[in-house]
Amino acid sequence: MLRTHNCGELRITDAGKEVTLCGWLQRSRDLGGMTFIDLRDRFGVTQLAFNMETDASLCRQARELGREYVLQVSGAVTERSNKNPKMPTGDVEIIVSELQILNESKTPPFTIEEETDGGDELRMKYRYLDIRRNVVRKNLELRHRMALETRKYLHDQDFIEVETPVLIKSTPEGARDFVVPSRMHQGQFYALPQSPQTFKQLLMVGGLDRYFQIVKCFRDEDLRADRQPEFTQIDCEMSFVTRDDVLETFEGLARHLFKAVKGIDGITFSRMSYRDAMQYYGSDKPDTRFGMRFVELNHLAQGKGFKVFDNADLVVGINAEGCAGYSRKQVDALTEWVQRPQIGAKGLVYVKFNDDGSFKSSVDKFFDQEQLQAWANAFEAKPGDLLLILAGEKDHTRKALGELRLEMGKRLGLRDPDTFSCLWVTDFPLLEWDEETQRFYAMHHPFTSPLKEDLPLLDSDPGSVRANAYDMVINGVEIGGGSIRIFDRPLQEKMFAVLGFTAEEAQNQFGFLMNAFQYGAPPHGGVAFGFDRWCALFGGSETIRDYIAFPKNNAGRDVMIDSPAPIDPGQLRELNMKIIE
Ligand code: AMO
Repeated sequence: MLRTHNCGELRITDAGKEVTLCGWLQRSRDLGGMTFIDLRDRFGVTQLAFNMETDASLCRQARELGREYVLQVSGAVTERSNKNPKMPTGDVEIIVSELQILNESKTPPFTIEEETDGGDELRMKYRYLDIRRNVVRKNLELRHRMALETRKYLHDQDFIEVETPVLIKSTPEGARDFVVPSRMHQGQFYALPQSPQTFKQLLMVGGLDRYFQIVKCFRDEDLRADRQPEFTQIDCEMSFVTRDDVLETFEGLARHLFKAVKGIDGITFSRMSYRDAMQYYGSDKPDTRFGMRFVELNHLAQGKGFKVFDNADLVVGINAEGCAGYSRKQVDALTEWVQRPQIGAKGLVYVKFNDDGSFKSSVDKFFDQEQLQAWANAFEAKPGDLLLILAGEKDHTRKALGELRLEMGKRLGLRDPDTFSCLWVTDFPLLEWDEETQRFYAMHHPFTSPLKEDLPLLDSDPGSVRANAYDMVINGVEIGGGSIRIFDRPLQEKMFAVLGFTAEEAQNQFGFLMNAFQYGAPPHGGVAFGFDRWCALFGGSETIRDYIAFPKNNAGRDVMIDSPAPIDPGQLRELNMKIIE
């Protein structure tokens, strides 16, 4: 080894030892008679000292070194006169007796320290330099620990990790596929998997009983802070289980990760139906760190001559506790906030429950104090509270109020990143109707089993059938989702028929799975977690990019390797493809 110790491990008890360290020059300071260098590696920073009086030529050499030079130094560990309690190695320094430059460095395009002057794009272009920064490195270490602990837990629960193929077949369901042209079969394409869904089901038919994989998935969809075109799932499947078996097994995984990675004990999960989530939170992934549940006011607010309410499907609001003191300006700003196109509410009605017990509202013309008191009762509001009410078409209004609830939660400091509230949302609708294509789509995927009690509705009222599907939601983030699967051919065929497939189309695209079901497929179910999202949640960030070593930017580009990029005309010829201008 080129070193005896790393840059993070020397302590006062090592004083007197002769050591050799390797690392990068983070910064240097010349103080006349002395030169100090902070030497950094993955493990920490150690101060190097060069003394002009005792070794002038070495000290002069040290002064010539630039930022990010790679050095090997030997010397004696010595107690520092000027200790730095902020650094674990801050009690000691190395009085350097030998110095070797292992590699030089150009001046880096941004400062490689905790606080950097580099913008996003620049840091992405030089991601390898960004990774030298503590913050980024810590995120990757967190990710490593998460993967390790996941494997430990699942291994202990008898899961085995199996790799599934990356070159598979494109299917029309789900998001858009990334495709790869085949040279040997010209005009034909592989697709990259959006998830290993069908393969993990085939592994259950293969009798593996409990499978998992920490696996790359690929989806050609619009990007957001919590979405990357290639991302990682903790993908799992189990045989001979009910829904509750699956939920309990993965509550166990969550508890293990919280304990092992965050040091948090006693994590519990609540369960909420999709219906309740939409009705009380306006979202299928409610942030349950705080209450502010929706209260519907149709029975109290309609028929009193206020057209906006009378013409609405739904009149619904939240109680922003303690906000009655909001000024006119603040309420106007909130109104503008809900009217932004992203939220799309037409307006906002407010009722201030004043400290003296009176009410002041934006609809005083239509509602007297007694009526407003009845609203306040419905909200269980108290003096000092502010009711915020939206009205309109049901789904749209719930969604908008859901956004307003999150915003108020944020403003009121109710969304503390160090508080965790874990939830399963269950009983999703099996199907979603799409107006544009005039057909049903599977809300989760076509392999999800309907709830047994809703099976008869599959013919008469497919839109109302509930799925045996569930999402794990933590602090309003969809961490994972899964379902109990269909495992017999006739039901799977029926499902494809409801989705508008002809028998032939279903056989062509998913025949391999339906055939397998005819050879003794066990009842099975599973779940997949967004691994990047889980890391970001544990790290206290909303951006999964921070937890991926080499992420894509918001336009889906890797600006470091400059991808995607055109390919060589020779490669195109080999594939018998041409660029259409
Ligand atoms: P689903 O499509 O819900 O289910 O995906 C599972 C989880 O993966 C994460 N996720 C993403 N993370 C980052 N970037 C993306 N583009 C992205 N898309 C999804 C989410 C999500 O909850 N095969 C099924 C699972 C199953 O039924 O077992 C599936 O893939 O956290």
